[in-house]
Amino acid sequence: MDLSNGIEKILWTEEQILERVSELGSELTRDFKSRAITPVVVGVATGAFMFLADLVRKIQLPMTVDFIRVESYGSGTVSNGKPRISCELKVDVRGKHVILVEDIVDTGNTLSCLIDYMKSKGASSVSVCTLLDKPARRKVHFELVGEGKYYCGFKCPDYFVVGYGFDFDEQYRNLPFVGVLKPEMYEP
Ligand code: IMP
Repeated sequence: MDLSNGIEKILWTEEQILERVSELGSELTRDFKSRAITPVVVGVATGAFMFLADLVRKIQLPMTVDFIRVESYGSGTVSNGKPRISCELKVDVRGKHVILVEDIVDTGNTLSCLIDYMKSKGASSVSVCTLLDKPARRKVHFELVGEGKYYCGFKCPDYFVVGYGFDFDEQYRNLPFVGVLKPEMYEP
């Protein structure tokens, strides 16, 4: 049984990802070091778990870390468009600078729902750090809060990707690279 069997091609290798994550960590360190309040880094489970773990080690600042869970996909490759927060934050974000760490911004539905949620909880700013962004699929416009900034690792072509946290039907998350699944793996 070989985990890489279902992969058609690799888009970003482990080395390329780690290099970019390191750059993002430096940018975040630079941008947040002058703020009086320590940031709250919120990973969007499950997809962002690996990115979050690598990213926070590259941010040279005191911070708190939490996770939030949003459900928007069933077992297919197309979003059902109605994200729902299924596991809430533990940390109080009122008056804090939130950095949402996402695996990918696709239609923008999940992000828009999360930004509204952080606003409703009184965050003083909401920034977003996403590993991938698929601009071709954007349907929902979102606005950051306060002095929030948008950070993106790579622009992603319109493929369904797996690996480095990304799943298909809860599998492939543990691949160290981001790749494209062979169509026969998800077509009936
Ligand atoms: P959005 O709400 O459409 O922006 O979708 C965001 C969520 O969909 C992400 O956080 C991912 O979990 C999932 N997603 C979108 N595109 C892909 C993909 O290519 N592979 C795996 N998951 C994806």
